[in-house]
Amino acid sequence: MRIVLLGPPGAGKGTQAKVLSNNLKLAHLSTGDMFRDAVKSGSVAGKKLSEYMQQGLLVPDETVNEIITQKLKDESIQNNFVLDGYPRTLPQAVELDKFLKSNKIPLDYVIYMQASEDVVISRLTGRRVCEKCGYNYHIKNIPPKKSGICDYDGAELYQRKDDEEETVRRRWKVYSEQTALLIDYYAGKAILREVDGDLDVDALNKYLNALFQNENLS
Ligand code: AP5
Repeated sequence: MRIVLLGPPGAGKGTQAKVLSNNLKLAHLSTGDMFRDAVKSGSVAGKKLSEYMQQGLLVPDETVNEIITQKLKDESIQNNFVLDGYPRTLPQAVELDKFLKSNKIPLDYVIYMQASEDVVISRLTGRRVCEKCGYNYHIKNIPPKKSGICDYDGAELYQRKDDEEETVRRRWKVYSEQTALLIDYYAGKAILREVDGDLDVDALNKYLNALFQNENLS
């Protein structure tokens, strides 16, 4: 199964991609995670990426396309992947299509996780991340047992720089201007399915599981 998760920042793409990846045995390809790893490594490329990310701006298309096409050249994942956060612009979607077509591996579904601005702003500004295992908490919705400490490894939680309110609002604007148009692009290809990203994690997960079960049966 080849799936793209599309939606605004904070719609829950990463959260659902992890579950789908476990349930359906898919490689989880998150451009945001790849870039954060590069930033952590302290490399020159990572420093450059961090400049875009901290401002809530998109990394240039050529950089993102190169990273993803390199990953998708791996034949062991070509038939089973979930793309989380890519494509995010029209040139990225066109490049992805070109690559998939030349390798005869068409996408099965693009899941558009529709979510409202108020909901995602509250989710992202309240998010706290474990510095060790990367688990995502939310100060109200998914609080750790002990404030500021990860339940799983006792490491400290931090707030992503791009989760500060001003940057979250910019990320929303960038999404509206550069990514939302992909909804029409994929609707035209008849592989788009829409889900309500405002639902809570479990409800959304149940909905997606049911969707894939029904799609597989049909
Ligand atoms: P990236 O890390 O991909 O960020 P994003 O897509 O902007 O947003 P998030 O990952 O924060 O949201 P999400 O939808 O995955 O939600 P999540 O499950 O995490 O990208 C970061 C940056 O990298 C970009 O700004 C850009 O600079 C660069 N970049 C990445 N890809 C790029 C590309 N293709 N092109 C160019 N640049 C690129 O959940 C968020 C929070 O909400 C968590 O706390 C979670 O616990 C909680 N939550 C999740 N689901 C629910 C729910 N249903 N109910 C309640 N809370 C929930």
